[in-house]
Amino acid sequence: MGKVQGKVAIVTGGAKGIGSAVAKALAAEGAAVLVNYSSSKEAAEATVAAIVSAGGRAVAAQGDVSKAQDAERLFALAEENFGPVMVLVNNAAIGAFAPFEDTTEADYHRIFTSNVLGTIQMIQAALKHFPKAGGSIVNIGTISSQNPVPMTSVYSASKAAVDTLTLALAKELGSRNIRINVVAPGYTATDQTKGFEDADFGRALLQAVPLRQELARPEDIAPSVVFLASDEAAWLTGERISASGGAH
Ligand SMILES: NC(=O)c1ccc[n+]([C@@H]2O[C@H](COP(=O)([O-])OP(=O)(O)OC[C@H]3O[C@@H](n4cnc5c(N)ncnc54)[C@H](OP(=O)(O)O)[C@@H]3O)[C@@H](O)[C@H]2O)c1
Repeated sequence: MGKVQGKVAIVTGGAKGIGSAVAKALAAEGAAVLVNYSSSKEAAEATVAAIVSAGGRAVAAQGDVSKAQDAERLFALAEENFGPVMVLVNNAAIGAFAPFEDTTEADYHRIFTSNVLGTIQMIQAALKHFPKAGGSIVNIGTISSQNPVPMTSVYSASKAAVDTLTLALAKELGSRNIRINVVAPGYTATDQTKGFEDADFGRALLQAVPLRQELARPEDIAPSVVFLASDEAAWLTGERISASGGAH
């Protein structure tokens, strides 16, 4: 029996990178998964095809998580396909490496709209749709919310907002048996870190990773998310697990 056997999950931004690995890992452990994407339709369909060909259940669905009506539609679609949703993984986010001085008001809105408002909209939809028995929300954060490196100021601040939202909601929603936790990845090989290993600052950061001095694979992050989604984590809420090979 899988760790999340019979559960229905939504993974936002699940087409590629960490989200795709999380969707595949949840499905391999018995969950039916709605794989949300914003623009990466083909990649989302490839993630679904990989899950289905491995014997799992999944469906792809477009939606901008920062829009309330899209968030609502994603839950309705997941319910139509698989039944009530009790696991939400807020993975969708905009990553940004840029000098602070070059960061514009438009950059701020783009980053905070997807990373913070998107998380809020999806959780508000979850509260309408989670069953009475409760559910599990896993927010994907980053180690840089607590230990930011240069060139990540606004992105790191957006993820710090997600950490604090998680702590506050753990207290507010605990009486409804809704658990909410953060998985904070370290540097991971995805579209967000293209060219990272070739840059001096990237190489220096990787040298300081205790377990392997290289970018993590998305598959290194997924098991922590599956754990927090599962009933094995039934007594955990408001926690932040660094999935980072020991980097902080
Ligand atoms: N890679 C790292 O080193 C690293 C480290 C720490 C934390 N993280 C976090 O891990 C998560 C996954 O990132 P990743 O590295 O796998 O990057 P990624 O491949 O860029 O995945 C992020 C996904 O988010 C989706 N997205 C962005 N805004 C959206 C919106 N408004 N609505 C719906 N989907 C939206 C994008 O969808 P489309 O492609 O469909 O447009 C994209 O595929 C993010 O929360 C990121 O901050 C990554």
